[in-house]
Amino acid sequence: MAAGQATAIAPANIAFIKYWGVLDSELTLPTNGSISMCLDRCTTETHVRFEEGLDRDEVLLDLYEGVERPAEGRAYERVVAHLDRLRAMAGVNLRARVRSRNSFPADAGIASSAAAFSALTVAGAAALGLNLSEQQLSVLARLSGSGSACRSIPDGFVEWINDGTSTGSYARSIAPPEHWQLCDIVAVVDVGAKQIASEAGHKLAFTSPYFPVRLQEIPERIERARRAILERDLATLGEVMEADAISMHTVAMTTRPPAFYWSAGTMAIIQAVRRWRDEGLACYFTIDAGPNVHVLCPVESAAEIEARLCLLPEVQFTIVNLAGPGARVVKVS
Ligand code: PMV
Repeated sequence: MAAGQATAIAPANIAFIKYWGVLDSELTLPTNGSISMCLDRCTTETHVRFEEGLDRDEVLLDLYEGVERPAEGRAYERVVAHLDRLRAMAGVNLRARVRSRNSFPADAGIASSAAAFSALTVAGAAALGLNLSEQQLSVLARLSGSGSACRSIPDGFVEWINDGTSTGSYARSIAPPEHWQLCDIVAVVDVGAKQIASEAGHKLAFTSPYFPVRLQEIPERIERARRAILERDLATLGEVMEADAISMHTVAMTTRPPAFYWSAGTMAIIQAVRRWRDEGLACYFTIDAGPNVHVLCPVESAAEIEARLCLLPEVQFTIVNLAGPGARVVKVS
């Protein structure tokens, strides 16, 4: 085939009900369903160009530093493995040049792999002329190994559903971004802290005695969270989201070996959010596999809550997001 190229933009996402635990790590089949929101201000833009004459894939990353660096080690291998998946589907052998740029600081501890692998999936498929449905793109993004990438394909508020098969494990939109002006304020407390990668955390989950309890609770949480989104009911979504974050971290803290993602700063924000809520401000927290806290609130009180967060000595900076669109091609040739 002739060399093809395409550019795609894809969002990071924040999970209200978390994916934690993998049933099949080859296929990235999760132990449970999950629900998330695509973030409009935290995106990755990726350009993929398949070329004659390259003897290996070339991957350059600009993680908000203004400088492109070649991907190395595991990061490079994961990109090549995903390109191989796309090449096999298209029956193409050409190597590619990949250039990827983040709109947010890499050290913000936001799950940037979801944005990165959904952007790579969409740009790579378009560059190869593959005409795939949203469901197929979501399945492919999941197979990258960063499971949550499948939730960055559809728009807005998203659910990852599972029927036990690979083709039946994909994400779909529950509601478009404009359905609800809900803000996610990312409060960054710790940049570049060393952590157990989520890839390892998903495998360790089974060693926690609390994991079966978590799995039992999830179906009801999914139902309540989905309904709360459809009804724009922040009190219910917030309650169920906080319970799920605490449950995920209880599992993580009780695996062998344990994974402690929270820092003193994490706890300070949790306590502040609870205090502000007691004062009558609607705001709720959730935390991914890192110390930073996502604070969910209505758009009307976002400025007030952001100002309060910035006054906490533990908070280094914040990023304010609304629900945004999923991955999309912005240029193809
Ligand atoms: O998709 P992964 O392997 O990066 O795992 C994501 C794990 C959490 O961010 C903690 C939860 C989630 O559902 O996004």
